[in-house]
Amino acid sequence: MKFFIDTANLVQIKEANDLGILDGVTTNPTLMAREGIKGNDEILNHYKTICELVDGDISAEVLSITFDEMVAEGKILAAIHPKIVVKVPMTKDGIMAIKWFTDNGIKTNCTLVFSAGQAILAAKAGATYLSPFIGRLDDTNWDGVDLIAQIANIYAIQGFKTEILAASIRNPLHIIKCAEAGANVCTCPLDSILGLLKNPLTDIGLAKFLDDAKKM
Ligand code: G3P
Repeated sequence: MKFFIDTANLVQIKEANDLGILDGVTTNPTLMAREGIKGNDEILNHYKTICELVDGDISAEVLSITFDEMVAEGKILAAIHPKIVVKVPMTKDGIMAIKWFTDNGIKTNCTLVFSAGQAILAAKAGATYLSPFIGRLDDTNWDGVDLIAQIANIYAIQGFKTEILAASIRNPLHIIKCAEAGANVCTCPLDSILGLLKNPLTDIGLAKFLDDAKKM
């Protein structure tokens, strides 16, 4: 399973990248706005900076909602850097745009996915990645990880090549459960990635080894 970081924060991207296990970055308008990125030039420059930092796929989301505008915007985003993956919402125009990008050799990430039906449509359109939102489903009393397992099963049976990119990850257990359920990628906040390191027995064991080392 690949690890992406889900942030537009450069400090956090660097910290995750320094771990040596980072395969890419996802962003969305909320995450970009949180970093105070404003205006077209700043947005494009920020994506370029992320592309220069990380060796992997970098998702940049379109802000328009009609097919023509999505295609025009996606072409500009894709021209920033070969690592750019155009992130497109799961709508009728979005599916048409994903098909257009697929036919024109531009990678896509279909976002705001909450059902298996949406997953089938995105795969038919040739999406490179599919982003089911795990945490937001859990928030509404639906099991987000169950959706990952259902989509993984459908994609395996049908031979779809679209990669399942589990998004809206909220904690380390989500990552483990998504790995078990067959996600190809998990995009996570830095805290959830670092949370995987934690176990008190590791800390206790290391303290004992270091103490005993003094007696050697
Ligand atoms: O990038 C989309 C996604 O990961 C959003 O997460 O926590 O806002 O539901 P969240």
